[in-house]
Amino acid sequence: MDLYIDTANLDEIKQANDLGVLDGVTTNPSLIAKEKTDYAKRLAEICKIVPGPVSAEVIALDYEGMMKEGHAHAKIADNIVVKLPCTVDGLRACKAFSDEGIKTNLTLCFQPLQALMVAKAGAYLVSPFIGRVDDIAEDGMDLILKIRQIYDNYGYETKLLAASIRHTKHLVECALAGADVATVPFNVIQQMLKHPLTDQGLEKFVADYKKAFG
Ligand code: G3P
Repeated sequence: MDLYIDTANLDEIKQANDLGVLDGVTTNPSLIAKEKTDYAKRLAEICKIVPGPVSAEVIALDYEGMMKEGHAHAKIADNIVVKLPCTVDGLRACKAFSDEGIKTNLTLCFQPLQALMVAKAGAYLVSPFIGRVDDIAEDGMDLILKIRQIYDNYGYETKLLAASIRHTKHLVECALAGADVATVPFNVIQQMLKHPLTDQGLEKFVADYKKAFG
């Protein structure tokens, strides 16, 4: 499973990248707004740190606007993936970008048929939002399982990117369900190597070594 970081914060991106296992970055307008910096400048800065795919979301809601913004984003760096919403205009823009050879990430996916449609339009990534589905008392993981099954039934090449991940249990379940990619906030990445028995075991190994060998 590929691991992306879901943030526009450069310190978090650098720290995650230094682990040596980061495959890409996803951003959205809310995440970049939090950084209080220029939108395009921040995307360029991220692309310089991480060579893998960096999702850059459009703000426009109409097809023409999405095409204009998407083309501008795509010029920032070779590893930009244009992020579009799962709407009618987003679907049309997805098909047009895909025909041009520009990669897309179709975001705000909340039901399996949106994932089916964007796969037919040639999306590179689809982003179902697990946490936000859980937030409304439904089952986010069920959405991942259904999309996985549909994509496998027909051999769609669109990568299933699990988004809106809130905790490590989501991440384990995504890996078991066969998500191609998980995009993860920095605080969850920090938890990925943690276990109290690892810490306790290590403490004992070091103490025993010191006792025996000084
Ligand atoms: O980047 C999109 C998604 O991961 C947002 O997550 O926590 O705002 O629902 P969240």
